[in-house]
Amino acid sequence: MTKKDEKEVLGPGDNEGAELGARVREANRRFFDRIADQYETINERIFTQTAPLTEDILKELSEQNQGEVALDLGCGTGNISRRIARFYQRSYGVDISFNMLKEARGLSGRIAGDCLELPFKDNSFALVAAYGTLHHIYDFRRLFSEVHRVLSPGGFFYIDHEVDRKFLRHFKAAFDAYRRIYGMDKRYRTRVRGFDPEEFRLAEYHAHEGGGIDIDELQETLSQAGFSAMRVYHHGYGATSLTNRLLSLLGIRRLPQFFAPFFALVAKKE
Ligand SMILES: C[S@@+](CC[C@H](N)C(=O)[O-])C[C@H]1O[C@@H](n2cnc3c(N)ncnc32)[C@H](O)[C@@H]1O
Repeated sequence: MTKKDEKEVLGPGDNEGAELGARVREANRRFFDRIADQYETINERIFTQTAPLTEDILKELSEQNQGEVALDLGCGTGNISRRIARFYQRSYGVDISFNMLKEARGLSGRIAGDCLELPFKDNSFALVAAYGTLHHIYDFRRLFSEVHRVLSPGGFFYIDHEVDRKFLRHFKAAFDAYRRIYGMDKRYRTRVRGFDPEEFRLAEYHAHEGGGIDIDELQETLSQAGFSAMRVYHHGYGATSLTNRLLSLLGIRRLPQFFAPFFALVAKKE
């Protein structure tokens, strides 16, 4: 097939999309390989402070579906798997960065690979979790169809720590200032040798280049992949230790969407 025929079959955007998707994946592999030995230290406090909210959601899901095995997509060093272990018997992690997997704890099994090509049989998991992972994956359609395939009927797809595009639009100036003063770019830049801002932006594709995630579009894409019964949780946990502490001191678990930088979403495979 000539290049021209290929374009006609695939449509003009698809090749470019596949190319960009591959670049985003490579940027993630390089970036996380580089920061793996610092990742846990840089994020430890935030992990601990966000745990109660995450565990609330995981508890609720495990009570609604008695399955035993969970999958942690973009598991990193095992932050979410360590929470999952409280409610599910086993949790497997997939990550594109070999170095992150070397640092990982709390998993029943670690698999180096791409979330878009999961090496599991259909209907294998009661829960698939993607904590802070979604914005690193370029192609949501492929991801959701793969997640839908490996989930068992009645299983849940739990997405969390994603930035709401609406919030970013309303508070763009404040968010940019936050990024400069406290953001992950700053945290990594000051502590990781060889930090490459371009690589970081590309790795965080939907948070930076995409300007956050549009929740309505996300739900539409999930429902096209076969998911239903979606629940969205708007919250403010996961930015800085100070805001996390403040929110938990005041006992605030959820925020109105307008004021919530982050969201979690749960979708069900019927
Ligand atoms: C922000 S970290 C989140 C890690 C972990 N879920 C946590 O809660 O700390 C994003 C993770 O996604 C992984 N990742 C990025 N793209 C991926 C892909 N295409 N397939 C598998 N893992 C990927 C990265 O290597 C990284 O470990």
